[in-house]
Amino acid sequence: MGYHEQYSHYVGMIEETIEKLMPQTEEVFSKEGAMPKLLCESMRYSLLAGGKRIRPVLLLACCEMLGGDIEQAKVPAAALEMVHTYSLIHDDLPGMDDDDYRRGRLTNHKVYGVGPAILAGDGLLNYAYESLLANAVDYPHNLEGHMRAAKAIANRAGVCGMIAGQSIDLSSEHMAPDADRLAYIHTHKTADLLTAPLLAAAYIAGASEEQIAALERFGWCVGIAFQIDDDLLDVEGDAALLGKQTGMDAQRGKMTWPALVGVEAAKERSARLWDEAEEAISCFGERAWFMRGFADQMRMRKS
Ligand code: IPE
Ligand code: IPE
Ligand code: MG
Ligand code: MG
Ligand code: MG
Repeated sequence: MGYHEQYSHYVGMIEETIEKLMPQTEEVFSKEGAMPKLLCESMRYSLLAGGKRIRPVLLLACCEMLGGDIEQAKVPAAALEMVHTYSLIHDDLPGMDDDDYRRGRLTNHKVYGVGPAILAGDGLLNYAYESLLANAVDYPHNLEGHMRAAKAIANRAGVCGMIAGQSIDLSSEHMAPDADRLAYIHTHKTADLLTAPLLAAAYIAGASEEQIAALERFGWCVGIAFQIDDDLLDVEGDAALLGKQTGMDAQRGKMTWPALVGVEAAKERSARLWDEAEEAISCFGERAWFMRGFADQMRMRKS
């Protein structure tokens, strides 16, 4: 299988797992264990809007690279996509980036209203952990691996991880760009959620300390390069391809890489980081073919 075919294969597994975990429900007030119809619909609206799925793809690919059981990784991959989607719904709210388009459609709050959108985000976040915990107890012989994986996702998504990055991103609007502050924002709001799938896969597959250190380095490089590219695409990208409006960072006074060093220097920094990402996983040799392909494709992305 080539890279693109393999990527589509992973995406198929992720979509199928999401459908199994969160099918559309009917309105039920009295039935225990069923989600209200509109809550479920609003979560599915954003979750099944066709994002790139890079975080869950990385989780599945890394698990396979490490010789782990991919069956055990499907629910954690879907759960991580739920966490990511919640972060996008909340990121787009009027009190945050106030965006109207996401994944090629109106943002969740534009369709369902701000209150329901907050709840759709809360719902996805909580359901992610409900799913992770239920999956962990399905594999008692690897309970520790699953618990470590869940802990890594919770930490990287949490108050010293993605939420911390979002918090400083928000409080840094209209400030003069500052390299240390920007590094903190990018490390946490983006790189942490890109490292989470690698760590989760490593724990499920029982990776060594050396392998985990290499994967953490890869995740950080990929994460920072990915966010620099996101900032660049906001300046130079095509809104139709991206599925979200461009030019919003400057309008909102966001601290970004192009604002700090200019477009050309930001491109150079991103290119160096994509190279470093590939170097970081050289210890895996041929087994890292998909991860190398991922870095090769992502550095050219337009969406
Ligand atoms: C968007 O993430 C948020 C950032 C970290 C820049 P993605 O670009 O992965 O968004 P989707 O999941 O493909 O919609
Ligand atoms: C968001 O960064 C990162 C998240 C944790 C959601 P951005 O605010 O730059 O992401 P986009 O450009 O809205 O996708
Ligand atoms: Mg934001
Ligand atoms: Mg945003
Ligand atoms: Mg952005």
